[in-house]
Amino acid sequence: MTAHPRGFASDNNSGAHPEILAAIAAANEGHVVAYGDDDYTAAARGCFRQHFGETAEPYMVFNGTGANVLALEALARPYEAVICPATAHLNVDECGAPERIAGVKLLAVETADGKLTSDLAAERITRVGDQHASQPRVVSISQATELGTVYTPDEISALAELAHEHEMVLHVDGARLANAAAALDVPLRALTTDAGVDVFSFGGTKNGLLVGDAVVFLRPGLAQDFPFIRKQSMQLASKMRFLATQFEALLGGDLWHRNASHANAMAHRLADAISGIDRVQLAYPVQANGVFATLPGEAIQRLGDALPASLPFYVWDEVAGTIRLMCTWDTTEDDVDGLVAALAAAV
Ligand SMILES: Cc1ncc(COP(=O)(O)O)c(C=O)c1O
Repeated sequence: MTAHPRGFASDNNSGAHPEILAAIAAANEGHVVAYGDDDYTAAARGCFRQHFGETAEPYMVFNGTGANVLALEALARPYEAVICPATAHLNVDECGAPERIAGVKLLAVETADGKLTSDLAAERITRVGDQHASQPRVVSISQATELGTVYTPDEISALAELAHEHEMVLHVDGARLANAAAALDVPLRALTTDAGVDVFSFGGTKNGLLVGDAVVFLRPGLAQDFPFIRKQSMQLASKMRFLATQFEALLGGDLWHRNASHANAMAHRLADAISGIDRVQLAYPVQANGVFATLPGEAIQRLGDALPASLPFYVWDEVAGTIRLMCTWDTTEDDVDGLVAALAAAV
């Protein structure tokens, strides 16, 4: 087996945290009722409720795309529309699954930094009641965003207010919700339950799980069809205990926070060092675990060749010369310092 040096391409490129693997091994004992009717699932649901409140209805699924798309399917009918930033994962990286599986129209909004504002969203709430137009039903934001920026609780509340004023709902793609909460030093519920969010996707895989994300309903009544939607879309795990035990390990103690704040700290270390390198600029404020750096085109190739990982980073914008550098729970200070040295040499 060849070695697998760490890189910065994705927080999905890291493995599973040892405490998650230990939880899976511990759950691998005896027979347990399948499909979620088991005590591991009950315990995981309890952990979600500790964080998000007693009315939270969590449903575990296999991945983040499934969480987003099935949440939208539960929230919107096929003649309804979802307002989201143009950079949203569901708009650019889900292969049209929201359109095909949830059947919704996406109303993509250009933003400066991946963040939708209530003013920008309000501009897209038009032609309500007009039978010729898709009807706006959901506002969807990503927290943290795909550009590494973070919404404050007040910004989320403003979007929730706007949505509710128009009888719409607010969905959050929380693939990196833990990173955002750790970055702002607030509890997870400050960015969801307490900010008026109706439904969110909760990322596990990017924060140390082997596999598993979740859809969490916060507004009573919205979840009622979800068990059928999840099964019909093939996201119901038969051996649910293995998803559940991972969430219990993540959320039952502080693992979610340790992993996320470590990844964020590595991103800040990287951003601080990059600020001192001539001819390299940060493309967006570094607020969570993603760093976007713009450098001369010819240096990108040199940097890629100099780094040990097989895919050390993604080129985010070829024209601008921007690369995406993601930090994760197992990124080390040495990894960051090695990258910085290679970057300085490449430019
Ligand atoms: C913001 C965001 N949402 C959702 C996902 C989807 O995750 P998955 O690849 O598990 O479907 C990703 C993955 O990169 C993401 O970055």
